[in-house]
Amino acid sequence: MTGMVTNMIKGIIFDLDGVLVSTDELHYQAWKKLAMDLGIMGFTKEDNARQKGVSRMDSLEIVLEKGNKRYSDEEKLTFADQKNNFYIELLQRLTDDAVLAGVKETLIMLRKKGLLIGIGSVSKNTPLILEKTGLKSYIDQISCGLDISKSKPDPEVFLVAAKKLGLLPVQCLVIEDSKAGIIAAKAANMRSLGVGPEYEQLGADYKYKNLQCEIDWDSILNS
Ligand code: BG6
Ligand code: MG
Repeated sequence: MTGMVTNMIKGIIFDLDGVLVSTDELHYQAWKKLAMDLGIMGFTKEDNARQKGVSRMDSLEIVLEKGNKRYSDEEKLTFADQKNNFYIELLQRLTDDAVLAGVKETLIMLRKKGLLIGIGSVSKNTPLILEKTGLKSYIDQISCGLDISKSKPDPEVFLVAAKKLGLLPVQCLVIEDSKAGIIAAKAANMRSLGVGPEYEQLGADYKYKNLQCEIDWDSILNS
C-alpha cells in the first residue's frame, strides 16, 4: 500500500519546444539561415526533425554534416552563437499565439487536480520563451539548459526537474515530442507520454497526437 502511494504521479514534467510552444519552427528557420550563410544548401526539415531534444552544439553538427567543410571548435562555437542570435531575434516576436492547442487548458486542469507542473527542456532560451508566451505563471519549477551539463537522452534535465519539484522520479510523468526525450525519461525512471508528429514512434508509455486530444488522465494518473 505504502509503495503504491509513493509511486502515484504527483508531478508532470513538460518538454518545451514542440510540446508547449511551436518554437521548433523558429529553430528550423534559424538553422536554415545559418546553413545558407555557410553555403550549405541541403539542410532540410527532415534534418531539422533529428535536432529535436538535441543540444545546440549537437544540433549544429547535424547542419554541418550536410556540408563538406571541416571547422575548428572555435569556429563551431561562433556558428552556434550566430544561430542563437537569429533565433533570439525571432523569439522577440513571440506571443501567446505560439502556445500550442490544448496546452493552457491542460495546465489549468492538471493544477486543479493538485499536480505540480515542471519544465524539462535542454533549451537555454527556456526562461525567455516562458516569459514571452505568458506560460510562466502556469509552471511551478523550471529545469532547462542553464541547469544541466548533459543533454537528452541523458536523464539529467528531468532528474533536476523532479528534485526542484520535491518529488521522486517515479512520481513524475514526462511529456515529450522527441525520441531523445523519451529515452531520457525512461533513463530517469519516469513514465512518459509522447505527443507531436512522431508520437507513435517515440516509444512512450502513453501516445497522443497532441494535448488537444481526449487524454484519459484519470487512468494515467492512477496507474
Ligand atoms: C530543444 C530543441 O528543446 O532545445 C532543440 O528541441 C534545440 O532543437 C535545444 O537544439 C537547445 O536549444 P537552445 O535554445 O538552447 O539553442
Ligand atoms: Mg521538444
